[in-house]
Amino acid sequence: MKRLLFLRGKLKGFFFFLHGHRFFSAHIFSFVGSMAALSKWIQNHKKLGHNDFYSFKFDYSRREQLFEHVIKQEELDNAIDYLEFGVSKGDSFRWWTARIRHPEAKFYGFDTFTGLPEDWGPFKKGDMSSGDSLPEINDTRFQFYQGLFQQTLLPFLATFDPSRKKVIHMDADLYTATLYVLTLITPYLRSGDVIFFDEFNVPQHEFKAFTEWANSFYIKYEVLGAVNNYYQVAIKIR
Ligand SMILES: C[S@@+](CC[C@H](N)C(=O)[O-])C[C@H]1O[C@@H](n2cnc3c(N)ncnc32)[C@H](O)[C@@H]1O
Repeated sequence: MKRLLFLRGKLKGFFFFLHGHRFFSAHIFSFVGSMAALSKWIQNHKKLGHNDFYSFKFDYSRREQLFEHVIKQEELDNAIDYLEFGVSKGDSFRWWTARIRHPEAKFYGFDTFTGLPEDWGPFKKGDMSSGDSLPEINDTRFQFYQGLFQQTLLPFLATFDPSRKKVIHMDADLYTATLYVLTLITPYLRSGDVIFFDEFNVPQHEFKAFTEWANSFYIKYEVLGAVNNYYQVAIKIR
């Protein structure tokens, strides 16, 4: 064992000495590793109440079927707190305010409203902007928080009462934003709270943020459903 550790230490030293990053792309290797981890996760979470895997056709509107399934199963048309991270022009936010009719439900939307703060795959910083204007929502039960989550979430949480059932909608696309939000809301999560992911099967972004978060905080969760080959996923905190 001692010899093995000694040899491993030497090999590591040589790797750094020879500038190993010039021969092995960190991005490609970590991408392949994340793909393998995601594939394994999918195999371990196939028997769900709602799942279209494997589906040949991508249909974005199927995420609403997932919302409906979870709303009915978890009785979410109630006095819930709905928190959406990544609102953009308000499509999903508008859907949720229209669907949940309970007068005591509250809806909180977080976004820069000036677009992505970083590049995301083929999308560039600033894409998905709502033109710096807040979406119009025909409702009185909601509030928007404009700015980076990294600036708006801490002050919001300082006065937030976490006792009601929460529905968290993660639709910020980015690894950094997703990991930041999940980490900060962890102390506010309660058993039965639901989290939707809108780009779950992007291996280096939402999936990576989700697994690192769940592993780091020993989060116990149940997967409620998935659509578009796990592009959209819903989990419930145990
Ligand atoms: C895919 S869009 C949201 C789409 C919306 N939920 C819908 O279904 O119509 C992603 C949004 O996340 C926002 N976003 C990403 N990272 C953010 C961050 N760190 N702080 C604030 N907003 C962020 C972007 O500004 C963008 O508007």
